[in-house]
Amino acid sequence: MPAISATAPGKIILFGEHAVVYGQPAIAVPVSEVRARAIITARPDHPKGWVALQAPDIGLDTTWDELPQNHPLVKTVQGVMAAIDIEQLPALTIRVSSSIPIAAGLGSGAAVSIAIIRALTNFLGRQLADEQISILAFEVEKLHHGTPSGIDNTVITFEKPVYFSREGPVHKGTLKIIQVAKPFTIVIGDSGIPSPTATAVGDVRKAWEGNRAVFDELFKRTGMISERAHRAIESGDFPALGPLMNENQALLEKMGVSSPELDRLIHAARESGAPGAKLSGGGRGGNMIALAPEGTAPHIIEALRDAGATRIITTTVKN
Ligand code: PMV
Repeated sequence: MPAISATAPGKIILFGEHAVVYGQPAIAVPVSEVRARAIITARPDHPKGWVALQAPDIGLDTTWDELPQNHPLVKTVQGVMAAIDIEQLPALTIRVSSSIPIAAGLGSGAAVSIAIIRALTNFLGRQLADEQISILAFEVEKLHHGTPSGIDNTVITFEKPVYFSREGPVHKGTLKIIQVAKPFTIVIGDSGIPSPTATAVGDVRKAWEGNRAVFDELFKRTGMISERAHRAIESGDFPALGPLMNENQALLEKMGVSSPELDRLIHAARESGAPGAKLSGGGRGGNMIALAPEGTAPHIIEALRDAGATRIITTTVKN
């Protein structure tokens, strides 16, 4: 049997990170320029149930029984087996590679899970609905950062711009695919500082517990920005987006999740022609994003590079 492969994109959060964990709406878009890929190869030279896992990017080359049961790759494979109700896999190798930077707020963990789920179900001649794939990936996301909102697995599974809000403590959220009236460009700059989302999410939770009134207000105002941005994107009101990004960044700073490195990149982007710039994802490190009206992207890219961005990706938000 030939090898079967599947890919999944990275993602950025345009509006509403952190507040989305507390039930407010957020907007995320896929970043198709960077992707995770899973390749499944049959290994008839091994007994049934033998599963090799290879992820050369992180130096992993092993069989799944040698990994802890709660390893994200093991959990992903087990999730697929449970979803399609099989007890044993044919002998196979799962090889994972990814051009999505790790721990940078670009959804690399969820993208790897989703690429594996799609490749493995194809390999087994089975199909899962996108909704089911998203739920399986959500279960794995919990291992990466305890209380995920579900936005990463959702936007990466559907690979469309999404307006998302979480419903209570469960995995299911309200999802609207956004109709982008006019495509627009976003420049993504990496601060080069790894930022495990769990730390930022945990710190925000502690701060919220210490001062609920203030933080609930910050979350609510963030949610209103996401709502306004949703309307602006759907109506083609591009000039409204920049100021909304800046307002969102001001609230993220109050939540304590920006950092001097992110602030420097955000400032450089604004100075070089971006009408809006903000951090994207968990914050503290990882990536920032800047809105780039036509003709401005080269200047913004140069300014970000000069300000120390370690990697720059340009993406177009469209349907
Ligand atoms: O995975 P990241 O770093 O893009 O962060 C996710 C965004 C948060 O709102 C901070 C957490 C979440 O689960 O939504």
